Parts: sequence; structure tokens; C-alpha cells
Amino acid sequence: MTALPKAELHVHLEGTLEPEDMARFARRNGLALPWVTPDELRAAYSFTGLENFLAVYFAGCGVLRTRADFRELTAAYLRRAAGQGVRRAEMLFGPQAFLDHDVPIDDQLGGITDAIAEAREETGIEGALLVSAHRHRTEADALELLDLIRPWRSHVLGVGLGSAERGNPPAKFARYFAAARGQGYRTTCHAGEEGPAAYIREALEVCDVDRIDHGYTATDDPSLVSLLADRQVTLTMCPLSNLRLRVTDDLRTYPLKRLMDAGVPVTVNSDDPSYFGGYVNENYEAVTEALQLSDADVITLARNSFTGSFAPAEETAKALAELG
Ligand code: ADE
Ligand code: ZN
Repeated sequence: MTALPKAELHVHLEGTLEPEDMARFARRNGLALPWVTPDELRAAYSFTGLENFLAVYFAGCGVLRTRADFRELTAAYLRRAAGQGVRRAEMLFGPQAFLDHDVPIDDQLGGITDAIAEAREETGIEGALLVSAHRHRTEADALELLDLIRPWRSHVLGVGLGSAERGNPPAKFARYFAAARGQGYRTTCHAGEEGPAAYIREALEVCDVDRIDHGYTATDDPSLVSLLADRQVTLTMCPLSNLRLRVTDDLRTYPLKRLMDAGVPVTVNSDDPSYFGGYVNENYEAVTEALQLSDADVITLARNSFTGSFAPAEETAKALAELG
């Protein structure tokens, strides 16, 4: 899979924090973790669902405190992604967890954007930043976040919405998405991971987002599948995440190929690779094996990753030419 040029469109920077680095950052910042060794931490990676995972994920976020931490985290992910044939990575990042620990926004976004620039020099990978709000918080909090990142407008390509889905429908954030669009951001929303197909429809029809993160439950509503195909809305699916969070219990019934066959532009992504047992290539490999995908299917997935990205047209054209 490394030889296949691809874009990664759904990865949370916080979810790329490897156990060894979590322990190292905790030590460096004088913080205690509930897990003493990286092996103990790995043992905690047996999740019963999204909310149970998010508790471990937010505990991990607690060790990231300095500009250097964010820079090293981003650099490590981009180096690894480039090594897997990723040409472009659109990375979600949720500042609210770090603002809770009084980490200034300039340290957070400054560290990340420094690493993006350095990685471009080092390996040629294009990194882009998508700032994500937490849906378990209020829409007022999300609007406040938009205000806070305003000085970083030129460094932030888009905004998203993540965290606990059930009971927090996209419509709760309609004004957030409208304000973001008004400021020129591209938009993406987690929908249909644990939430119903109706949340995917709401993200499109009420929030008018450009892209859907996950979209796993779309096949529950055939008319929604037709809408996704007609409007050519990209779904950023994450097979190993869905398996580890018990969204699906068997990748052999994973709806990715059915959605592709229905004309929906689906892509394969890692979500939180250090927690779910695989980076983007391991996700491609898992679905290829489970669904017996052909070489042509895999190339279609890679093409979709570029056409579904928020890249400038010339960059996308160059990547598609490379795929042949
Ligand atoms: N934040 C990080 N990973 C997430 C996921 N799988 N779903 C929702 N929010 C997230
Ligand atoms: Zn996600």
C-alpha cells in the first residue's frame, strides 16, 4: 500500500499520540498518568464504545502542554504518514481540551503549523489543519472557539465537529457551521458513527457541510445513500476505528463497498491510529482483505481521497496524474 499515493482526510492529531510519547510528554511536563507503563496503557485500549474511548483519549490529551509538544506530535505523524505514501494529510485538532488546561491557542496552533512547514520541506507532504469543536459542549463554546482562532485564519483550512455523537445532533451546531462558512472555512462533521442516518442528513441539509466524517450508518436509509451519490458528498470512513469502537463487529459486512457501488465517494482513513491499531495503510489493508477489494477498487479509494480533499485544484490534478 505504501506505493499507492493517497490523501488522509480523517485523522485526529491527538489520536496519533503513541503510548511511548504519551509517557515521555507526561514525564517532561511533570504530570502523572493513570497508567504507569506504555504496556499498561495499551491494556486500557479495549474499548466498549465511543464515549468509553473518549475518556482515555482526553486523558491522553492532558499530557500535551507546550508548543514543542504539539510540534513533535505533528512532526511524528507527518513523517509516518509520508512513509506510508500519504501525499496530503488534512488533520483534525480540537483546541478546547487544551484550553481547559490553560494551554494558549498560539502554542497549540503555532507548534502544529511549524511542524507542517518543516514536514513539507523534509518529505514534500502537504499538511492541512482542520480545527474541530466538541459536540458535547455548547454551540456558544464552538462559536467562541471560532473567534479565538480568527488570528490563525490563514493557517486553518477548515473546521469540523467531533466527540460524543449520541444526543448531540449536528443541528445543535447549525450557527457554528454557518459562521464558519461565512469566514471562508471548509466544513466537515462527524455523523453516523454511533448516531443514526438522520444525523448525516441533518449535517447536510441543516448544516450544509462539505464532507461527512464516518457516515457508517448511511446505508440504513437508501434515500440518503442516493442523496450522497447525487451530491457526490465524500465520506471519510475509518474501518479499524469502527471495529475497535464496536460500531461494526465484522469488517466482512462493512458498508464501504456497497456505498462505492452506489456511487458514493468513500475514502479510507485512520481516525485515531495510535489507539485503534493501525495507520492509513493498515486501514486500506484491512478493508481490502475483508471485502476482497480489487486493485481497481483500491485505486478508486485513493482517487476519492484526492478528489474529496480540500486541496487546491492544481495539487489534486497532480496527485490524480500520479495515480494514472
Ligand atoms: N474524536 C476523536 N476520535 C473521534 C471519533 N472516533 N468520533 C468522534 N470524535 C472523535
Ligand atoms: Zn474522527
